[in-house]
Amino acid sequence: MKALKLLAIVLIAAASGAASAADAAIGEKTYAANCASCHGTGVLGAPKLGDKAGWAPRIAQGKDILYAHGLAGFKMMPPKGGNPALKDADVKAAIDYMIGKAK
Ligand code: HEC
Repeated sequence: MKALKLLAIVLIAAASGAASAADAAIGEKTYAANCASCHGTGVLGAPKLGDKAGWAPRIAQGKDILYAHGLAGFKMMPPKGGNPALKDADVKAAIDYMIGKAK
């Protein structure tokens, strides 16, 4: 019985690990296809990928604000990076990807 419980815990841990790895891949793919055009080079003042100083004050606002601005737009940042066909989850994954590169 104890072993079964342990197995269940291991399986759940493995499954959630796989999910976050998949999210990371979606984030990178979504970023490359939809966000890199501005965030790769800093077009219109977009914070660049991997620019810690550029991202720090934005990250300090908290993830919820970043998600909201990524989805609804913010100043020169178009809603969903200008691609309304994107799923909310994919936009959030792309934001997570950029946050991860700025740490
Ligand atoms: C047309 C150019 C452009 C594209 C494409 C673009 N962005 Fe942006 N983004 C900007 C600009 C410009 C800013 C900075 C806005 C400001 O603070 O003035 C910005 C800022 C942001 C911010 C920070 C908002 C904040 O609160 O500081 C996030 C998050 C973001 N973009 C996510 C994304 C994601 C995700 C994508 C792709 C799905 C994307 N952007 C595509 C131009 C773009």
